[in-house]
Amino acid sequence: MKTIPLIATAALLLATAAPRLSAAAAESWAASCKSCHGLDGAGHTKIASRLGVKDLTDAAYQKTFTDDAAFNDLKNGLVKDGKTKMKPFAEKFSDDELKALVTYVRTLAK
Ligand code: HEC
Repeated sequence: MKTIPLIATAALLLATAAPRLSAAAAESWAASCKSCHGLDGAGHTKIASRLGVKDLTDAAYQKTFTDDAAFNDLKNGLVKDGKTKMKPFAEKFSDDELKALVTYVRTLAK
């Protein structure tokens, strides 16, 4: 049977892709998100108080948005009351990278 090695290879590829994406997400967070959200996600930054960044380490706050909503806001940008809160990251990150970033954000909750 030729299919078994194929399945094994596919499973191995899938298993190694996820940790790679999450390590990349941690780096992307530090490079692109920390300025507003802080490295730990608590949002104690100067710009955060100006923009109304909320505490992503707060599990209760994390429950107020879905993965899909966060993905969408990251991809297309977040505008509230006519003010740009987050610029769109669609050109900077692929969909997979954005999903990994949302997964990363979920790990910040305490
Ligand atoms: C220019 C500052 C700024 C940067 C940079 C920024 N954010 Fe945000 N982010 C905000 C603000 C402000 C809010 C809260 C908006 C609100 O609810 O009023 C927010 C909200 C969020 C939320 C909550 C869900 C939602 O969509 O409201 C998530 C998740 C998030 N940011 C993730 C990220 C990630 C991941 C990055 C980096 C790729 C990032 N942010 C970069 C300012 C920023």
